[in-house]
Amino acid sequence: SNTDTGSSTAIEFKAVAVSTDNTVVVPEGYSAQPFLAWGTPITGSYPEYKNDGTNTGEEQEQQMGMHHDGMHFYPIDQKAGGNSSTEGLLVMNHEYINQSALHANGATYDVNGNRPADEVRKEIAAHGVSVVHIKQNDNGVWDIVFGSPFNRRVTGNTEMDIRGPLRGYEKLVTKYSNDGTETRGTLNNCSMGPTPWGTYLAAEENWHGYFANSDATQPREQIRHGVGSSSRYDWELADSGADQYVRFDISTKGATAQEDYRNEANTYGYMVEIDPFTPEQKPQKRTALGRFGHEGVIFAPAVEGQPIVCYSGDDTRFECIYKFVSKQPYYAATAGGYLLDEGTLYVARFNEDGSGDWLPLDLEDADFKAKVDAAVGTDVGSITGFTGFDNQAEIHLNTRLAADIAGGTPMDRPEWGAVDPNSGMVYFTLTNNSRRTEDDVNAANPNPDNQTGHIIRWAEADNDHTSVSFEWDIFVFGGFEGTETVVDGEAAITLTDENIFASPDGLWFDYNGRLWIQTDNGYEKDIFGNDMMLAANPETREIKRFFVGPQGCEVTGVTSTPDVKSMFVNIQHPAANWPDASDPRPRDACVLVTRDDGGVIGA
Ligand code: FEO
Ligand code: CA
Ligand code: CA
Ligand code: CA
Repeated sequence: SNTDTGSSTAIEFKAVAVSTDNTVVVPEGYSAQPFLAWGTPITGSYPEYKNDGTNTGEEQEQQMGMHHDGMHFYPIDQKAGGNSSTEGLLVMNHEYINQSALHANGATYDVNGNRPADEVRKEIAAHGVSVVHIKQNDNGVWDIVFGSPFNRRVTGNTEMDIRGPLRGYEKLVTKYSNDGTETRGTLNNCSMGPTPWGTYLAAEENWHGYFANSDATQPREQIRHGVGSSSRYDWELADSGADQYVRFDISTKGATAQEDYRNEANTYGYMVEIDPFTPEQKPQKRTALGRFGHEGVIFAPAVEGQPIVCYSGDDTRFECIYKFVSKQPYYAATAGGYLLDEGTLYVARFNEDGSGDWLPLDLEDADFKAKVDAAVGTDVGSITGFTGFDNQAEIHLNTRLAADIAGGTPMDRPEWGAVDPNSGMVYFTLTNNSRRTEDDVNAANPNPDNQTGHIIRWAEADNDHTSVSFEWDIFVFGGFEGTETVVDGEAAITLTDENIFASPDGLWFDYNGRLWIQTDNGYEKDIFGNDMMLAANPETREIKRFFVGPQGCEVTGVTSTPDVKSMFVNIQHPAANWPDASDPRPRDACVLVTRDDGGVIGA
């Protein structure tokens, strides 16, 4: 048997089968309860959810947003060194929206092609982040603490500060912030990362789609991300013409950047720090971590007196994995977001022999500077005639371009990362890449037409997260029954009906060191069924399916109480009539999973 029952990371539950039912499936002896569905009132005047789509924009600003994604549970006594498993702040991202479900009659337009401003207000309010103070009652049932000062919505219109190397940079100057130090809103918040000092970093992933630029030519900081001439939801067409809506049209209109929003998209694409325990503080966009399609971020364990290290994936086909190492050392007594404002950003190169290198994106690094100089005048990817980097700020603004020039390895869509609390190894999901061909495979992304994805992992040299080299291997390939992951000439795991999966996306180590894998799959649904969550033992590579979501959904976002006895799992974009069959609208929701005997989940 490959089950190490003596290990704290052994997985002992009975695997569940693939499912296509419109319900949540959990193993025997477990229960699942929907919680905090889209529209649930959580702050302000707690306006009730209406299932006919008639809640206003102002009401949505006081309710749970849509399309739940990454989340984290903060014990209520965390800042005092406590570890409560019965009360805390659940902080959650809302990645995007379903306009049909959000409104009474979907998205509407007037005869001039403009949109009612309150529809737009509601859509912007359904994005962002929710902070919810939750508590278990005497019967062990979780509920919202009504009236708590921590209950809060951060939306696509909340005032934010720009921090780090791009604060005050000329290309972040807008009509709203003439000195380039502020912006409004965070959008397309996919995954996240809890910091070692008790705050929350929300990722801005597919932010480019929210902006429209009809100029004849675009600057490179838009081209490399695919900003188009029209936007995904047409917010810039709001009929009130109010400034907070027209800013999504980033065409050049005024004589200077102070007079228009040509630079508005340059204030997006970051990790955004929110302190859930300090509701009066503005969120902070941490530009030192780079600007790209941030899926999320994962911190290495903080070591007193050593730099802070975190890892982030750029979820687009052929994009890279990055690492940030702070300049200043971490001291628990004084740690804070300032640690993320100065440091070195690296891109990962996965070599063919199983070694890897972290390549600094730093103009003061001689090798990188030489590559930049050599690239001037050439075409780099979609950028014709590269004009160089005048300063380090340009690298934080054009991080993908810098990674191309440094020689980062183009991956099969890096999604979530996780750090094993026992071994220190770093894991990343590579969800899929249908455009990978025989001509561009590499050892770390070896499958042409990679429809089912894989999970890569590495150990930093000397198990020191600040190292500039590492050793990697592939933990598991997704796929059909019989799919083998071969290590040293032998199948280390062969997938069976207990664990076939495709398109791994969410990834999380719980506090005992079990690895949780979530899927966002659109391939061969007749075989893989609805999206799911599996548990893995990282020591043995044993994997078992633990949870299957309802129809049409993606399972994304998982956290638990410190005792791992209450687990929260998010269901994003369910297809219809879930979780309430009597409600015509599908509602994203969190699912609370517990063990009927009160035991540790997964054990
Ligand atoms: Fe929002 Fe890459 O998933
Ligand atoms: Ca994802
Ligand atoms: Ca995905
Ligand atoms: Ca998704």
